[in-house]
Amino acid sequence: MAVIRVGSIGIGAISRCVHLPGIEKSPDLQLVAVCDIDPQALAWARETYGIDEAHCFTDYRQLIACPEVDAVDISTPNDSHFEIALEAARAGKPYAVEKPLTLTSEQADQLAQATEENHVVNMVCFSYRFKAAARYARDLVRQGKIGKLYHVDMQYYQAWALPFCETPLKWRFVAERTGSGALGDLGSHALDLVRFVTGQEYTRLVSHTGTFIHERKLEDGSGMGTVDVDDFSNYMAEMDGGTAATFRITRYAFGRGNYQTMELYGSEGAIQYELDHAAPDTDEIFVCIGHFNGEKHIFSKLPIPEEYKCDQMQAFADKINGKDDGLAAGIEDGRINQHAVDAVLRSAKTGMWETIQ
Ligand SMILES: NC(=O)c1ccc[n+]([C@@H]2O[C@H](COP(=O)([O-])OP(=O)(O)OC[C@H]3O[C@@H](n4cnc5c(N)ncnc54)[C@H](O)[C@@H]3O)[C@@H](O)[C@H]2O)c1
Repeated sequence: MAVIRVGSIGIGAISRCVHLPGIEKSPDLQLVAVCDIDPQALAWARETYGIDEAHCFTDYRQLIACPEVDAVDISTPNDSHFEIALEAARAGKPYAVEKPLTLTSEQADQLAQATEENHVVNMVCFSYRFKAAARYARDLVRQGKIGKLYHVDMQYYQAWALPFCETPLKWRFVAERTGSGALGDLGSHALDLVRFVTGQEYTRLVSHTGTFIHERKLEDGSGMGTVDVDDFSNYMAEMDGGTAATFRITRYAFGRGNYQTMELYGSEGAIQYELDHAAPDTDEIFVCIGHFNGEKHIFSKLPIPEEYKCDQMQAFADKINGKDDGLAAGIEDGRINQHAVDAVLRSAKTGMWETIQ
């Protein structure tokens, strides 16, 4: 199988931590081109990965049109996912795009349609689907080990918006750049992960969102700017298998780095998935299965079998090569996710239960 030549667009934090190292590690992928509107980010990528000048772009259209680029990797802020992925779809080039998929569900619908019409391989980077503990939990649920599922409780907590962190008005606080705040940033992952692990779809939900700090320093130091997105987002959802789900999502959880828990309670057992609890970026799974353990309240940590360990960028290569395991999120997952995010936003305004449209 020929190596897939990748062009990466948006060389910021997630690109440097996950995408570019993942491409480098994969025997099936080769980074051949990079694009960023920031010359410093571009220079960093050129020097770090030895990309020649002719394949360093500031306009994503040029990277997508470049004949040496077989596949496109998109890690720009949320407001450009739609236009860049649409351009890749129309060019017939496979793409991996960061979450949340788009700013609105209308954009998500349009992108999904263009992707399907052009038969373009795609991946939406719901990265926690690649945590071994989450995959293991999913299998245990599918095997019926915890019986009928009644409750799912998911928390996703970070702390970097707390006053003492003095975080300026990054794009993540500005609606026209990010869509929603903690919701699109962390809550979209939580919505996807619960759907992934339970295998159930959301039918309706009700939410409470809010903003604690309404003004932050502008990044260029020229004054203050307005935060017009949520700092936290709590919601309850009904799922089509009858499961009652709750979500608590915030950027104000003191002491937390990238902390996630998902607790699943069924008729025959319970599963607890944890990320970032024992140590940063460590995923773990605890179970209480069977009536004896249930009566004694005994939860045990399970060793995670090797077969569950995987990598997001390798999954992109496997998708293109037609040998993927079907577990990475695709455009339809991203589209469904965007509709759920929009329902949370609608409910926050109306104060009512909202169906997923
Ligand atoms: N999957 C995950 O776990 C995860 C984690 C963090 C971020 N993300 C997502 O990744 C995306 C990027 O987040 P980040 O934290 O890396 O942001 P960032 O601000 O650190 O980096 C974004 C980069 O994109 C560049 N850029 C902006 N507009 C561009 C354009 N039109 N063309 C080319 N380059 C452009 C910026 O100059 C910057 O270098 C966001 O959508 C975010 O939600 C996902």
